[in-house]
Amino acid sequence: MSRGLFVTLEGLDGSGKTTQLKRLAIWMEKRGIEPVVTRQPGGTSTGDRIRALLLDSRSAGLAPMTEMALMFADRAQAIAEVIEPALAGGKTVLCDRFTDSTEAYQGGGRALGSQLVLEMHRLICGGLQPDLTVLLLPSLDRSLERARRRNDRVAEKDGPDESRFEREQDAFYRRVWEKYREIARRDTERVVAVEGDLSIDDVHEQIVEAVSERLVMAHSR
Ligand code: TYD
Repeated sequence: MSRGLFVTLEGLDGSGKTTQLKRLAIWMEKRGIEPVVTRQPGGTSTGDRIRALLLDSRSAGLAPMTEMALMFADRAQAIAEVIEPALAGGKTVLCDRFTDSTEAYQGGGRALGSQLVLEMHRLICGGLQPDLTVLLLPSLDRSLERARRRNDRVAEKDGPDESRFEREQDAFYRRVWEKYREIARRDTERVVAVEGDLSIDDVHEQIVEAVSERLVMAHSR
């Protein structure tokens, strides 16, 4: 059996990633592909506990190294429990965030640098790389505005507190955004960047085009 296709979605909080992931999964299902959809942090029961620790705003004073190590702990579990078995079984995996997030947020945002994150990736994730990464990169202003609006809505509701990252300052998000752009310029084969403030339909179309191309390539492997 041939290995499944590994697709990741990346972008800032408020980039419209979740909406696009849902639409892409529906598009695939209509074509008879049943993707395994997962997210990071989270996606396993251990990962959900790590996620709660990472995103709760009461986890004050987490050292950047701790934050990065927890992201990779979550990822190691997700690879072992969900991603690798699915790919080995020929399934397409759609993952909401992967190591590019760690490079952008901890490497860029927390200023740990790319080299450290990539070295951790090599040690912990082995050779696992996405076949395709869709990076949603609306303008920084637009992303920030949407993320803040969403955060205000979340703050009004009961339920788990997942606002630790959204509470960061604009300068943090600027560094994340810039690191994402750097990744897109560096990994041109793997990363398809959808840039600019486009409509939901236009973004979806661009994503579908990139995914279709990879699916054709995978079938002719
Ligand atoms: P989530 O609520 O899933 O955000 P979104 O819907 O925007 O994906 O929260 C995930 C948060 O964790 C998000 O702010 C990005 C951050 N993050 C990192 O800082 N490093 C990582 O490696 C990952 C996977 C996420």
